[in-house]
Amino acid sequence: MNVVILAAGQGKRMHSSLPKVLHRLAGRTLLAHVLATARSMAPQRIVVVYGHGGEQVPGATAGDDIRWVRQEPQLGTGHALAQALPQLDRSQPTLVLYGDVPLTRRATLEKLRDAAGEGVAVLTVELDDPTGYGRIVRSGEQVLRIVEQNDASAEERAIREVNTGLMILPTARLERWLARLGNDNAQREYYLTDVIAAAVADGVPVRAAQPAAAWETLGVNSKAQLAALERIHQRTVADELLAAGVTLADPQRIDVRGALVCGRDVAIDVNCVFEGRVTLGDAVSIGANCVLRDVRVSAGTRVEPFCHIDDAEIGANCRIGPYARIRPATRLAEDVHIGNFVEVKASEIGAGSKANHLAYVGDSSVGRNVNVGAGTITCNYDGASKHRTVIEDDVFIGSDTQLVAPVRVGRGATLGAGTTLVRDAPEGQLTLSRAKQTSVPGWKRPEKKK
Ligand code: UD1
Ligand code: CA
Repeated sequence: MNVVILAAGQGKRMHSSLPKVLHRLAGRTLLAHVLATARSMAPQRIVVVYGHGGEQVPGATAGDDIRWVRQEPQLGTGHALAQALPQLDRSQPTLVLYGDVPLTRRATLEKLRDAAGEGVAVLTVELDDPTGYGRIVRSGEQVLRIVEQNDASAEERAIREVNTGLMILPTARLERWLARLGNDNAQREYYLTDVIAAAVADGVPVRAAQPAAAWETLGVNSKAQLAALERIHQRTVADELLAAGVTLADPQRIDVRGALVCGRDVAIDVNCVFEGRVTLGDAVSIGANCVLRDVRVSAGTRVEPFCHIDDAEIGANCRIGPYARIRPATRLAEDVHIGNFVEVKASEIGAGSKANHLAYVGDSSVGRNVNVGAGTITCNYDGASKHRTVIEDDVFIGSDTQLVAPVRVGRGATLGAGTTLVRDAPEGQLTLSRAKQTSVPGWKRPEKKK
């Protein structure tokens, strides 16, 4: 089939300088959601009709498979589809999607395709309040025409079955129907909906199909609708996680903006955000209020509350946080402990090593069974370039130590508390830099003069 995505409209009610279809739901643009659905149908061609917001829309959208068609000015949905016609394979049917209707499922589109057969099918829903939508005028199974709100009689306005806008049409005939469209209506627009009556006049059957859930056809016209759809989408994702055996402290309080893949017996506390691709191994637990982006966590690891982990690999049976920040290009082996107010960046940390309190480990290679004391800082930046710190296995670093990179601490070395390390520390020895401690006997505190 061909897929045409109509995305030229303005979206006035978003009150934004960003074109409507570039607003994000679950971390992706509305258009990206529709494109993903379109691609799931394995179409021969995908055409996106854009207009309002100009080149921003193609500029922000990835895909070599997209044929972009600019509609300028925007004279209605029928006019929009007519602009796409030259790009379509006339031997294949055309599926029309809206760029601002992001949550339609493949199963629903398959149902629509099956309903169409060689003819036309329109996706419809029954609404308690159909105000604003085109109404479906039927005779039994056959759809006769669609009448827009502003052109409808009182009797037609009472119809609760509405046009979602999504439809499938035979392309060669569509071309003839579009050529005949006029704009003699309340909005002075070329209505795509008028092709329905044209199809019926040509003796082509027009059927209606319904989605599994009405929200699949909801569009975004305002920030309120965007927020509502975000919640619907997140609840669907949460239900899928629950169905797969993940424990969620509250399925209303999780946000997945990408792909979250979980093993068995994973538990996620409230208010966590997962972005990009996150994989949680068996028996991983994530505490409340964590943000994980592009992270792989191996089995048995516990992430305590309030951690921020970005582009990292966390080994098995680690303990992270509370209040840990793990930044890009970090790799932790198994049994690593990263405690509160510890920041790790672009570093590998070996098995069994610990940095439990108040530390910065950046651009470092840390071996196995290393203890990084509280207040330890790798001074990786000299104001111009970054340098690496190497800490070998079994090193013990006393509290409040600065390692001025590039520097190496040899295997089994101990650094005394308060050391500022500017040269390599030899293995197995105690290294410390510290002013000698003195006590002054008989010294008295100064007193205020009376
Ligand atoms: C349209 C339907 C209506 C249906 C409703 C569902 C028509 C005439 N009416 O109404 O029956 O109930 O959708 O939401 O089709 N667009 C363009 N170029 C244009 C105009 C619109 O690309 O010139 C795009 C918009 O970006 C949007 C879609 O087409 O994605 C629908 O446009 P919109 O203005 O929302 O249509 P409605 O008037 O609400
Ligand atoms: Ca609309």
